[in-house]
Amino acid sequence: MLATVDDAAAAALTELEREIDAPGGGLDRLRLVPIPFVPEVRLHLAEDAIVWWARMEASAGHALPPPYWASVWAGGQALARHLLDHPELAAGRRVLDLAAGSGLVAIAAALAGAAHVTANDIDPYAVAAVTVNARANQVTVAATGGDLLDSTDLGTDLLVAGDVLYDRELAGRVLPFLARAAEAGAEVLVGDPDRGHLPRGRLDSVATYPVPTTEPSVDSPVRRVQVLRPA
Ligand SMILES: C[S@@+](CC[C@H](N)C(=O)[O-])C[C@H]1O[C@@H](n2cnc3c(N)ncnc32)[C@H](O)[C@@H]1O
Repeated sequence: MLATVDDAAAAALTELEREIDAPGGGLDRLRLVPIPFVPEVRLHLAEDAIVWWARMEASAGHALPPPYWASVWAGGQALARHLLDHPELAAGRRVLDLAAGSGLVAIAAALAGAAHVTANDIDPYAVAAVTVNARANQVTVAATGGDLLDSTDLGTDLLVAGDVLYDRELAGRVLPFLARAAEAGAEVLVGDPDRGHLPRGRLDSVATYPVPTTEPSVDSPVRRVQVLRPA
């Protein structure tokens, strides 16, 4: 029988719970840490995501998706900061965090008083990470897997997407999706450090944040990150 998206996320959740509960530490382990630019939130992150990934692949005996959920991203940090500093954006609303990764932005929306928060990601480990991270922050977030980018009926008031324009092909699908959501009446906010796929003229900047980063590709300890909305 084929494993479903839910089966994969349930198996990943069991694995992450076991990892979190296991004694000891090290570079290939997860640690619950406060987020530098969003200290209200703590997340289970890898001490070293590459080392974690290598160990998990070796133990699974097959390739696994890159563990994006095991790191914080500049775009997500800026967007989470924006929601916490402007709680009226999320308060009382239905929020969808697209490409949620660790769930940082979804958790910020819940802390800001959202009525209902859904976090979606195609990686089953990210779906599991959202669950354990929401628990660690004592908020409720519905974590869902699967690819929503061809959907039209989202049933959301606020659509948030942190650091999702990191790849040309993905940006080519995400941008029309965001535009459709905005046309359907959702407020749409994107957190983006400009990784080369930010379309000129299609998004307006709402705010800019200096976000601390440890990304090896960036030679400054701070990255300028915009929060944008469809023009
Ligand atoms: C760079 S991470 C950003 C995570 C999070 N938004 C943040 O800012 O911390 C990008 C995430 O996009 C997810 N992703 C990629 N394609 C996707 C798709 N079609 N639908 C949902 N999530 C997707 C990846 O699995 C990954 O978790």
